[in-house]
Amino acid sequence: MELKIHKPQLFIETYGCQMNVADSEVVAGILGKIGYQLTDDAEKADLILINTCSVRENAEQRVWGRLDYFRAVKRRRPQLQLGVIGCMAERLGEKLSEHEAVDIVAGPDAYRDLPMLLDKAKHGLKGINVDLSQDETYSGITPERLHSESISGFISIMRGCNNFCTYCIVPYTRGRERSRDPQDILNEVRHMAGDGFYEITLLGQNVNSYQWKNGQQITTFPALLEILAQSFPDIRFRFTTSHPKDISDELIHVMARYQNVCKHIHLPVQSGSNAVLERMNRKYTREYYLERVAKIKEIIPDCGLTSDVFCGFCGETEDDFKQTLSLMEQVGFDSAFMFKYSERPGTYAAKKFRDDVPEEVKIDRLNRMIALQNKISHNKNQQDIGKIFEVLVEGFSRKSQDDVVGRTSQNKVVVFPNQGFKRGDRVMVKIIKASSATLIGESIN
Ligand code: SAH
Ligand code: SF4
Ligand code: F3S
Repeated sequence: MELKIHKPQLFIETYGCQMNVADSEVVAGILGKIGYQLTDDAEKADLILINTCSVRENAEQRVWGRLDYFRAVKRRRPQLQLGVIGCMAERLGEKLSEHEAVDIVAGPDAYRDLPMLLDKAKHGLKGINVDLSQDETYSGITPERLHSESISGFISIMRGCNNFCTYCIVPYTRGRERSRDPQDILNEVRHMAGDGFYEITLLGQNVNSYQWKNGQQITTFPALLEILAQSFPDIRFRFTTSHPKDISDELIHVMARYQNVCKHIHLPVQSGSNAVLERMNRKYTREYYLERVAKIKEIIPDCGLTSDVFCGFCGETEDDFKQTLSLMEQVGFDSAFMFKYSERPGTYAAKKFRDDVPEEVKIDRLNRMIALQNKISHNKNQQDIGKIFEVLVEGFSRKSQDDVVGRTSQNKVVVFPNQGFKRGDRVMVKIIKASSATLIGESIN
């Protein structure tokens, strides 16, 4: 008689930033060790984990909605186990565990404890661990890739944040800043190179504050990037998110020196008004930010620049907001993530400032900001027409199998006719058309 062994199936739903995506892969690695197998079909899952984000209120609202949905699913399939992990788990631990659908809750530093928590849940107890750690970096764990067919992957090289921008929940949900051993990072890159990855994005909330101390020896972010670029000439490296305070000349020079370090910096500015930046505790001024941008453009003239910006922070006047618009125009970001302020309980701003910009004003400012950025992105992309870029092919275009899609070093998406290309190919493409979101080209190989 044939014996079929059922491996418990794991489905992970990930919200929030790229660090959460990388964490979901760490979690899949940890649970893989005790027999769980990833599935992309929630209906087949024995365990569903929701990896959550707390950065704005609507991110949390969505998860509450999903929990109510899974409550109904669990009534139909009582054996199904459900866990909430990530930043919202950290922020709302107990409250989440009280939800009928939830079996376990684990914060971002508690993933090694997941097997124990699941065991507890099997015995009818709610498993919860939201302890933060000073030094957890998941060293020694091999992440299991969620998208095994992908040629582009992530590695977290540092965790946590010490900056305490007054509006931001991340330092509370992720704990203190800590960096990973460079040796550990090199091993992981080697592993990924062997698995067919052609592009790796180094991740951290403040990735360029990376620092590893070994006795007297200090490895900074530019040093790490240089070691990686030299050791893996066939891999393209990216990194995100950079804090403006740590964009050093040295880092810009390392980027310029290595062909395989992508010419793109994601540099969140948040606001263009010094009064607002000060209230945000961003630790730089408008002038400092513009000087850094000028330096980047001087050393790497073709560098892609993107940003995060938000409007409606406490006390933001129309004049403050106009300064944000003027900064966006002055820099000319290729694209930007734009938001309206959402008060997060427990932050300095929630305790000390009044959330005094009316909702309709926030919405109006956000719309104006988006309209401006669309115009800027469109103009920037028009300027690329006629230029030639090396594009790393990621796969077929969503619209048609006759086209492939990939990215330039500057992180712009390019669609072009498929002439037998495959994932991972580097193709020289001439841009012939552009919208505000995409470049259209043709290969000149
Ligand atoms: N570590 C990165 C990004 C952190 S979160 C940095 O320092 O820039 C991603 C973005 O969400 C932030 O850059 C900011 O633009 C936005 N954000 C963070 N907290 C917010 C809040 N309370 N309301 C609205 N947007 C917020
Ligand atoms: Fe939040 Fe500021 Fe830290 Fe970014 S640097 S994660 S915005 S506190
Ligand atoms: Fe969200 Fe946590 Fe990332 S709050 S943005 S998932 S670090």
